[in-house]
Order: sequence, then structure tokens, then C-alpha cells
Amino acid sequence: MSVPAPELPRFRLFDAPSPLAPLHRLSAALGGRTEIWVKREDLLPLAFGGNKLRNLEFLVGAALADGADTLVTSGRRWSNHCRLTAAAGARAGLAVELVLSGPPASVRGPGVVLMTAFGATVHQLPSLDRDAREAEVARVTRAVVERGGRPYVIEVGGSGVLGAHGQALAGLELFDQADAVGVAVDRIVVPSATGGTQAGLIVAAADRSPATRVAGVIVARPASELRPAIGSMVRSLNPDNAAGVDADRAIELDERQLGDGYGRPTAEAGAAADLLAGTEGILVDPIYTAKALASLVSGVRSGALDGQQVVFWHAGGLPGIFEPLD
Ligand SMILES: Cc1ncc(COP(=O)(O)O)c(C=O)c1O
Repeated sequence: MSVPAPELPRFRLFDAPSPLAPLHRLSAALGGRTEIWVKREDLLPLAFGGNKLRNLEFLVGAALADGADTLVTSGRRWSNHCRLTAAAGARAGLAVELVLSGPPASVRGPGVVLMTAFGATVHQLPSLDRDAREAEVARVTRAVVERGGRPYVIEVGGSGVLGAHGQALAGLELFDQADAVGVAVDRIVVPSATGGTQAGLIVAAADRSPATRVAGVIVARPASELRPAIGSMVRSLNPDNAAGVDADRAIELDERQLGDGYGRPTAEAGAAADLLAGTEGILVDPIYTAKALASLVSGVRSGALDGQQVVFWHAGGLPGIFEPLD
């Protein structure tokens, strides 16, 4: 496999693998028939960690190679990608302009506080309208050019195939760790929003451990939109299908945890978060990782995962615990 393409510029944001650890007490609390492990992307060492740092190594690398002096990107006010872009920009010596769709919360949440602390300029919009967000990104980008700067625009959520190279690397890292401790990794359970993380893991699994299933848990876009987006990233990451991915079979999505939609907590996710906290002392966020954990817990309880070794992909997002979700 040629992921990541060796010629891709990369700006290092961390130099050690994120930990892979067994969750003995959670496994026991759920009946002991499934061996649950966790990949601690939440412990990547920058700005409260999270999976999007993987994307940013390649996105910041591309921006620097392009001679940019300013990163421009967008998301919601709790966007982990925006917070981490602010921190990565600080590390790389790049200015950061963030466009956040609204409406703003009644009190200022940790997302905006942290983005500002890392030195980013935040532009908050009154509504969730996608066209308004894109128009504001275009306006901010023009303003950077008009003042003599060189912008590099990163898609909403840091999504896209360039960033997904970082996720494929994370997958290869997991399989190295799993080999070292003798874990088969029958299944990875991962929250899926733009699908870049799932796409990268699918390609890594096809290359290194074809029996591993990658189960994406839908937290934002519906399966009808997400499936083709993942399929297209898988094809771009793996152009001649060197990894031998059967995309129809490989893209597994659980839509049952979305509840009232993106950023809306659910009772099932809350209960799963409490179970993990109470058995392992590990926190998950209500927007992404708690919903993925709820899917895993429900699969284990149903008996469908009996006898399996399952990795919970803890993608981070912890400031979301304190985000006002009004
Ligand atoms: C904590 C967390 N988990 C999961 C995801 C989903 O990752 P992806 O957009 O690659 O599907 C995100 C994306 O914002 C995230 O911040």
C-alpha cells in the first residue's frame, strides 16, 4: 500500500503512537464474552487531543509547502477540527481564521474559548445555513489576500482525502500495536461524521488485517450521503485497489445512534459514557464518541460480538462534555 504517498508533505504534531489499552472492567461489566480494547486518539498530545490531529499533519504540511501564512477553515462551535487547527497553526507559526456556523450558544463554550486562546480569529455566523458559511469562508479568504497574506483553505471538518491519509496511518499504527500484544482486532468501532477516519481505517485494515470489520457509527450525515463519500475517499487512498478493498462489503454503518441529530445528546450515549467512566475512569464526549460507544455496548449486549476482540476508536472531542448544547 502506498498510504501515505511518500511525497506528501507532513508537519509533525506528535511523535509517539496513541496508546492501545485493554478495557478489562468494561468488558467484564458487559458479561466478559467480548474483549474490548481502546485506541486512545483522545490522548494525542496537543490541545486535548483527538483524531483530527491526524488530518492536520498533512493539511498543515500542504499549507506550508504551498507557502501559505494563514489557515482558513470552518465548522460548528464545538468543532474539534477547528480547535485543533487553531493549535496546529500556533505550532506551525501560521495565522488561523475560523468560520463557525451558528447560532452562537447562550454562554460562551469551551470550543470558542480554546480556539481564541490558541490565537485564532473566530467569525461566528448567526445561522446554520451552509451557503452562508461558504460565503463567509470566501469573504475571509479574500480579506487575507487583500492584506497581503497567503491563505490555505481547509474543508469543513478537515475532511477529504489528504487528511484521510493521516487516518490510514493511524490504522497501520493500530495493527502494529495489536500484533505486538497478540490482539486479532475482529472489529473497530469508530464515530463517523465526514467519514475520513473510517475510510482511512478501512484501507489500513484491508492492507494489514483483511478479516477486521470497521464499523462506523453515524453521528452527523445520513448513510445515504456518508456511504458514497467514504467510498470515494477509499478509492482515492487506494487508487489501484492495491489493498484489495471490497467497498460494498467494507463500509458498515450504524445509523441507530444518531437520535435527534448532530450535536444532540441521546440517553443511550449518556448511559454508555457513564458505564465507561464508572468502570475505567475514561471520559467520552456526547457528540461523537459516546454515540460510538453506545453502538459498541449495544452490539456486545446483543451477543453479536461474543468471542470477538473489539477496538473502540476513542477519537477525542473531550471539550464537548462542557459545551452548552442549546
Ligand atoms: C471527536 C471526533 N470523533 C469523530 C469524528 C468523526 O471523524 P470523521 O469526520 O473523520 O468521520 C470527529 C470529527 O469531527 C471528531 O471530532
